[in-house]
Amino acid sequence: MALTATQQLQINHRSVRRFLEKPLEPGQLEALIRCGQAAATSSFIQAYSIIRVTRPEARRAIAVAAGGQVWIEKAAEFLIFCADLRRINQVCETVGKGGLEGYSEHGLAAVIDVALMGQNLMLAAESQGLGGVFIGGIRNQPGVVVEQLGLPHRVVPLFGMCLGWPDANTEVKPRMPVECILHQDQYQDIEPDKLAEYDEQMSKYYAGRGANVKLTDWSNATAEAMQGKKREHMLDFLRSRGFFVC
Ligand SMILES: Cc1cc2nc3c(=O)[nH]c(=O)nc-3n(C[C@H](O)[C@H](O)[C@H](O)COP(=O)(O)O)c2cc1C
Repeated sequence: MALTATQQLQINHRSVRRFLEKPLEPGQLEALIRCGQAAATSSFIQAYSIIRVTRPEARRAIAVAAGGQVWIEKAAEFLIFCADLRRINQVCETVGKGGLEGYSEHGLAAVIDVALMGQNLMLAAESQGLGGVFIGGIRNQPGVVVEQLGLPHRVVPLFGMCLGWPDANTEVKPRMPVECILHQDQYQDIEPDKLAEYDEQMSKYYAGRGANVKLTDWSNATAEAMQGKKREHMLDFLRSRGFFVC
């Protein structure tokens, strides 16, 4: 069956880290945010807030804290996506149902809401020829983000997003074959042969791509990412903001 235009757009996704010095069209950002908001949301709680970061000093401080990601400073737009249980706590108290206690379930619902909204927004942007990249690096030093953006209790910055008009056409990164991630009825561990095949494909991709050439494969890159990005401060940080307390 032929792919629809939407499916083609999804399959063509690639992160963009180099941007033209050109702003978005008037009203474009607001329209993208409406598209993000249209994503499904757990119990309709809409547990998210976006902070649009325009202050160059704030962008610089966050870029440095994120490990020197220069595209944070250069993108036409830089957004911080927050899990927001503050507004919900406020309404719970106002209607007399009692405030939030910090249940993990509520935290998870908020995190999932933010992720769905962010991806909807990214896809909407890509459908207009924009490009972007999610920035998990903001969790290197989440305190910097809190301080720069004045984030109050029960608001947790989860990831950033750079958006703008692409200045470079990067390759699509091959995903695992569907059979590796789609299980029928019962979970099956990945077959070593399938993994080896994918590693070989990814090793060719990393060696042959136009920029940031690497001698690695998916298994090694993944292990390195996992070992290098533990962000041991996160549990304390989340709890200090009223998330995942119980
Ligand atoms: C939640 C999340 C956080 C990410 N954080 C970063 C980041 O801090 N810096 C970066 O350059 N890319 C980041 N990325 C982009 C991933 O590296 C990228 O999506 C992945 O390598 C697949 O490549 P593709 O998006 O080009 O298909 C992040 C992606 C996600 C979903």
